[in-house]
Amino acid sequence: MKISLTAKNPLKIAADLLIIFVSPSWKEEVSSLGADTLDLISDVALIENFIGREKQHLFVDLQQKPVKRLLLYGVGEGKITNLYELQKIVGEAISLANKSRRRKVVLVVMTDWLKQNTAEAVSQAVAEAAILATYTFDKYKGEKHHQEKLAIEEIVLTASAPRLSAFEKGIALAKLYSGATLFARDLVNEPARITTPSYLAKIAQGFVKPRQIKVRIYEKEEIAKLGMNAFLGVSQGSDEPPKLIKLTYKPARSTNKKIVLVGKGITFDTGGLSLKSSSSMETMKLDMAGAATILAVFSKIAELKPNIEVVAFIAACENMPSGKALKPGDILKAYNGKTVEVLNTDAEGRLTLADTLSFAQISEKPQALIDLATLTGAMMVALGQDIAGLFSNNQKLTAKVKEAACRSGELVWEMPLLADYKEQIKSEVADLKNSSKTRFGGAITAALFLEEFVGKIPWVHLDIAGPAFAEKNTPLCTHGGTGFGVRLLLHLLSNY
Ligand code: BES
Ligand code: ZN
Ligand code: ZN
Repeated sequence: MKISLTAKNPLKIAADLLIIFVSPSWKEEVSSLGADTLDLISDVALIENFIGREKQHLFVDLQQKPVKRLLLYGVGEGKITNLYELQKIVGEAISLANKSRRRKVVLVVMTDWLKQNTAEAVSQAVAEAAILATYTFDKYKGEKHHQEKLAIEEIVLTASAPRLSAFEKGIALAKLYSGATLFARDLVNEPARITTPSYLAKIAQGFVKPRQIKVRIYEKEEIAKLGMNAFLGVSQGSDEPPKLIKLTYKPARSTNKKIVLVGKGITFDTGGLSLKSSSSMETMKLDMAGAATILAVFSKIAELKPNIEVVAFIAACENMPSGKALKPGDILKAYNGKTVEVLNTDAEGRLTLADTLSFAQISEKPQALIDLATLTGAMMVALGQDIAGLFSNNQKLTAKVKEAACRSGELVWEMPLLADYKEQIKSEVADLKNSSKTRFGGAITAALFLEEFVGKIPWVHLDIAGPAFAEKNTPLCTHGGTGFGVRLLLHLLSNY
């Protein structure tokens, strides 16, 4: 889909649809369209009882204008105070336009939005929402679907002349951020028979760029030599070899700032011998969403050019039951020397992350460590499916991540790392056990387990089990991988 920008009067642009966002004072807001158009809209609004209520919409045929139709989309009385709300509203209007089979759509940004945020931030948020809202994963659908498919091909944003250059910058960033997000969605949506650990390693190798991006793949033998036995333990039930993927980005100007990103990369989670039920397993190709987010960041990092060194690790493997699989009761010695009793082979993410986090921290000594993991079902019980849980040992880093989430329009909520609950992951026979007796506070005990492997380095753990995957269509995302966290990380890196 193409996004373009113009300072022209929206009514003078030849297009299939013009979208204008309005509040209940809509008559003033559309008065610049001219008296004739206003009369026409007022007549239809009266018949349809349109008053600009939130989510209310009105289609009006514009006779004899280059723009064929108008869509007034109600935002209601309330002010839109954050970019999450703004993107949701734009996504809703674009979805309506998409359904009404319009190819070229003109979109006018509400002046009210520009009072609360910079023109660059608003245009980035709007353009991003438009791109995200029109994404589909339909490569496996048949010819009939593709023949009948009619989707928006071009979105034209309008801006007053003085705001053109800010809008241009915003749109360029939106293309980058949403492009990366769609990359992550594609990776998560692709079936697990394709996205094996070797496949993820190949994707990473494709990012290599002399002097900027280095990629190193550690094979099974090297992983064993390093002593990453927790990671290897999880992988041992599968026929697919594990891969430890390391990506390094160095900015052109040398800097002493360094951040490490870690993504959970279970390319399919059956639960292992603690086998999941059929219905819980249905969506478990999503369990590499953290890894997909990191790969997506690296797909655009050379274009974004953040002024910070970024090192990323993905421990990629499958969690399968077999004659070679981990057994409940097995004890593994992790990279940092701590021993773990595996009581539930379905709590595998914390095992692979334990090794990855301690290896990352010890070998790289970064100023900050951030992991993204579809770690626990309990996180969804606590926060629902739209919000990621944030756990941290450092308030400064927490503030930075929260701010990036505000800018990206993604939802995170801080959770407590209550030390008292550590009792629940103490083992009778090893240093730790990988699952607590009670399921209460399961996201917290999982995070406390990870904390045992990060040492004193400022660390944020994002449990993205809920928002990584949409079980139904939403304004900004169709069913499937959401690319959650990609925009958050891009904002964080570019403002670090
Ligand atoms: N990958 C799952 C967590 C998950 C569940 C992510 C649903 C997204 C949607 C994880 O490996 C898992 O199975 N966790 C267990 C932990 C338990 C056995 C302690 C869980 O949450 O049930
Ligand atoms: Zn699991
Ligand atoms: Zn898992």
